[in-house]
Parts: sequence; C-alpha cells; structure tokens
Amino acid sequence: MRHAFSILLLAACATQPVAAQDARQGEELYLRYCATCHGLDATGYGPMRPVLTVQPIDLTRLTAENKGEFPLVRVIKRIDGRDPLVSHGSPMPIYGELFEGQDISLKTEAGQPIMTSQPVADLVAYITSLQVE
Ligand code: HEC
Repeated sequence: MRHAFSILLLAACATQPVAAQDARQGEELYLRYCATCHGLDATGYGPMRPVLTVQPIDLTRLTAENKGEFPLVRVIKRIDGRDPLVSHGSPMPIYGELFEGQDISLKTEAGQPIMTSQPVADLVAYITSLQVE
C-alpha cells in the first residue's frame, strides 16, 4: 500500500508543470558550456575564438539585432540542435542531449508555447538578461 502511494506521489511530481526559469542556474551553465567560445561577458570573445573559422557571435545583441525582440525560438533551437543550420557545418556544438531532462514550456515571441528542457530554459533566461539596447 505504501509502495503504491509513493508511485502515485512520484507520478504527481513528474507531471507538475515547471514554469520558472532560473537565470542564476543559467549563468552557471553558460560559464561551463558556452563561455569558451562566446566569452565570459557573452560578447563573442572567448578563448576559443582564434581557432574558430566562423566567429562566435555577440550574445548580448540578439535583441538589438532582432528589431528589439529577443529571438527566443531561434536561440532555443540553436542550443538544442533543432535548427537545421547546426547540422550543416556550424562550428557550434549541439547541446540537446546534455540538456535533456524535465521539459518546460516557454512562450515564444508569437505567443505560442515551445517545449524545451529546464537547463535550456535557464540558459535562455540568463542570455535574455544580458541583452543590451
Ligand atoms: C565551440 C564554440 C562554441 C561554443 C562552445 C558555443 N557556441 Fe554558440 N556559436 C558559436 C559560433 C561560431 C556561432 C556563430 C556561427 C553560427 O551561427 O553557427 C554561434 C552562434 C550561437 C547562437 C546563434 C545566435 C543567432 O543569432 O542565431 C546562439 C544563440 C549561441 N551560439 C548560443 C550558445 C550557447 C547558449 C552556448 C552554450 C550552451 C554556445 N553557444 C556554445 C560557437 C560556439
């Protein structure tokens, strides 16, 4: 009986929607996985830059260069590898597998939901917080 109860409890936890994005968690992930190329301050000057044939972009200007709107869908797809560009020779690694885990739904620029993982959502929150005018 007690066993059945714990299974129920587990199931309840697993279906609990997680809507919160944690930018501090995202910062940690950023420093661990992205800063080597995009730089500690995300402006594109990481230590790997000199050896890359395609230069890492300035991640603080995504909004500025997208008519003032953060390109959420593009960024998510870039990180998790769903952007087909990535499979066609971009030097940027694909992190989809690394960031698998709890799914979370975010709202896109167009107001539609997009599914991604909690770590990618956290990363996106951090990158969003870095945007300059
Ligand atoms: C090995 C170097 C490298 C690492 C590590 C790396 N990137 Fe990149 N990234 C690049 C390069 C080079 C580009 C520009 C060329 C391209 O678009 O493929 C890029 C492009 C991007 C873009 C595209 C922006 C746009 O305008 O569409 C995003 C978003 C991005 N990176 C985020 C990240 C995040 C987040 C991480 C860490 C999870 C990361 N990158 C790790 C090299 C890297």
